[in-house]
Amino acid sequence: MEHNPLSRLIVISNRVSAPQPEQPAAQGGLAVALTAALRESDGIWFGWSGDIGARHDLHFETYGGVTSGTIDLSEQDIEEYYNGYANRTLWPLFHYRLDLTEFERTFQGGYERVNEAFARIIAPHIDADDLVWVHDYHMIPLGWLLRQQGLANRMGFFLHIPWPPTRLLVALPDHRRLVEALFAYDVIGFQAEEWLESFRHYVTHEMGGTLGPDDTLTVGGRTIRAIACPIGIDAQDFIASAASATARDVQQRMRESGTGRGLIVGVDRLDYSKGLAERFLGYERFLDEHPDRHARVYLLQIAPPSRSDVETYQNIRDSLDQLSGRINGAHADIDWVPIRYVNRGYPREALAGVYRAARIGLVTPLRDGMNLVAKEYVAAQDPADPGVLILSRFAGAAEQLTNALLINPYSADDISDAIDKALSMPKEERIARWRPMFENVRDHDVVWWRKRFTEALEAV
Ligand code: ADP
Ligand code: G6P
Repeated sequence: MEHNPLSRLIVISNRVSAPQPEQPAAQGGLAVALTAALRESDGIWFGWSGDIGARHDLHFETYGGVTSGTIDLSEQDIEEYYNGYANRTLWPLFHYRLDLTEFERTFQGGYERVNEAFARIIAPHIDADDLVWVHDYHMIPLGWLLRQQGLANRMGFFLHIPWPPTRLLVALPDHRRLVEALFAYDVIGFQAEEWLESFRHYVTHEMGGTLGPDDTLTVGGRTIRAIACPIGIDAQDFIASAASATARDVQQRMRESGTGRGLIVGVDRLDYSKGLAERFLGYERFLDEHPDRHARVYLLQIAPPSRSDVETYQNIRDSLDQLSGRINGAHADIDWVPIRYVNRGYPREALAGVYRAARIGLVTPLRDGMNLVAKEYVAAQDPADPGVLILSRFAGAAEQLTNALLINPYSADDISDAIDKALSMPKEERIARWRPMFENVRDHDVVWWRKRFTEALEAV
């Protein structure tokens, strides 16, 4: 057990997935990563309880070494702040989907109102020496609002999703207000160099800011550090999960039910940023072009529903139901269904077994801050006989996992060609590609990430 000798860590994020008795496996990169990070710290994790209620009560709970402090939100709060500004405005815009972005004044009002409430309720529980670490797009103005409450702490912000190009961001009403709020933090972290570059571009072109040494940016006399700090997975835990009895059982089950066919696996929240329809179309292209391979493959797509109160998410569910039905209808045989499409979550060990059983990990987001599934797939492989990772060049993970088969997820031909190449790849090449990726995932794990960020913050 490692303790930070200098300061207590305060983490604030919308979703708090601190350990709970009998809670199923955490979903979402943020949840999975912070559970692992907080286990090593004596800090508190603040955020939304996930429940509807009067927002003024703060409930503390300690379980598995992690204390959480959560706040209920009213129905109106959830509608305007979470479903609204966070998931109908910022999420699509930051994932380059201006076509899906909704701009509503009430959403922005709700977002600011909820962030103000969080700041007011949490501020009294923060001591002067605490390191404050705020996460993700739900909470961008929180640091600024905590400063309004009189806090002079060292404060950091980490964005788990992409930062959009300036030409897209300026479509957001009040974009400058949002970015100015970020200058209340001391350190800002991004998943990838590409997102950091976009942020710098905005600051220098839209705000007249200047770049300084050591990743600093100065605007109007205020200097902050903006760094690229890619998140990792709990690699050791994942490697162990892949070797567990549960994982072996699952592998065995997959082998038996696959009747000797090679498994291609996709694991994603049902989200339009994940490129699921494009993935299915790429796989269909492969089936069309390689009838001789039908007897050799099947695709398992695991996609638990997400944010189902938002219409764009309901639409993607409908369109994938149709698409998988159409592809299966056109190609299935008496003993073969080309796509197994499953809409539920699985415990980590079972997931690790599925990854290990898969000849191909198919990870094709149209845009993704990082993508932890790609790293999990790599971690779970058998070193003596690893599978092949097919990875979108538009995921933050592509900056690190450069030995994957990198593809353009918009191109069905690219996906089809990569599947073909992966299926016939000799073992030596599979090992040669996998090994450096594995070392990267193992060495740049979630502890490395947490340390790199908090050290930058400590140094302020
Ligand atoms: P995002 O954060 O956008 O959801 P990531 O790929 O970064 O995407 O992280 C997703 C996380 O959620 C991974 O840790 C993955 O294992 C987990 N996950 C996704 N789907 C499932 C599922 N069906 N069952 C269990 N865990 C899942
Ligand atoms: C992404 C976001 C997280 C979010 C997660 C799950 O990983 O970056 O902030 O928690 O998706 O989404 P949800 O809306 O269910 O919290």
